[in-house]
Amino acid sequence: MAELQGKVVLVTGAGAGIGRETARALARKGAHVLAAARSQERVQPLLDELARDGHSAEALVMDLASLKSVRSAAESVAAKHPRLHALVNNAGIWSGKRTVTADGYEHTWAVNVLAPFLLTELLLEPLRSAKGRVVNVSSREHENGRMNWADLQHEKGFGARKVYQQSKLALTMLTNELARREEGRLTANSLHPGIIATELFRNFPGFIRFWINLLMRTPEDGAQPQIKLASAPEFESVTGRYYRRFKETKPHELVLDKAAAARLWDICREHTCKA
Ligand SMILES: NC(=O)c1ccc[n+]([C@@H]2O[C@H](COP(=O)([O-])OP(=O)(O)OC[C@H]3O[C@@H](n4cnc5c(N)ncnc54)[C@H](OP(=O)(O)O)[C@@H]3O)[C@@H](O)[C@H]2O)c1
Repeated sequence: MAELQGKVVLVTGAGAGIGRETARALARKGAHVLAAARSQERVQPLLDELARDGHSAEALVMDLASLKSVRSAAESVAAKHPRLHALVNNAGIWSGKRTVTADGYEHTWAVNVLAPFLLTELLLEPLRSAKGRVVNVSSREHENGRMNWADLQHEKGFGARKVYQQSKLALTMLTNELARREEGRLTANSLHPGIIATELFRNFPGFIRFWINLLMRTPEDGAQPQIKLASAPEFESVTGRYYRRFKETKPHELVLDKAAAARLWDICREHTCKA
């Protein structure tokens, strides 16, 4: 029997890059994959390929920049799948300039932090029922991040890198806070996938993209750490850890600061409560 037969996993950002490879690999291992993307068209080629090869997957259309969209997608998942064995919060952006979502949040904060926070909160019951695994795709960039508590939305000075770093720091802090709050009911870990040649760098100058594409790991290789955390038996009870690819690594000190993480949790609750 296939390794993940009978298991249901959700992967965000399944239409491209590392997320697409993660969704493909988990489906090939036998899981039923909920392939989340902004549009059906984005994941249809993957769904067609998986169906042709006898694997099981369905599209989950969800715009992570919209809290309403996240809520409606999560509710449909919870109604249809009482047990969710893994949630891979993979989707993320590196934004070149400051834009604001329809909900009024800076885009990176909305997609990289609020969306995975809300999605996870709304899927807690199916995750608990399966003693599921939450895998949050962070970045090594978080290790140099700073929480700008006074201006989390970067209204007074936007820098693409610092905004990305803060978003990944926040996601890593939330991962450990979730691990603490849900100890014994589910697991939550975060990781840095490596430097991977994907569309994440679409806003970078052409010559940098040229070298990235030439020298960096492929998306298939980049997906391996999250595939492992989401499915390998040896990670069944591992929780509250951060990995640089496969190596457990000490995260940013704020990730281990319970008061800071609880403060951030409350802020995210407040930012998402009107969804
Ligand atoms: N590549 C690297 O070197 C690297 C390093 C460290 C961490 N990471 C992290 O790895 C994760 C995957 O990134 P990637 O490298 O595979 O980049 P990517 O190819 O740009 O993939 C990002 C995915 O996120 C999705 N996404 C973006 N905004 C969305 C929205 N509003 N609603 C729904 N989906 C949305 C994209 O969908 P569309 O296809 O529709 O745009 C895409 O599927 C990200 O969290 C990234 O921060 C990557």
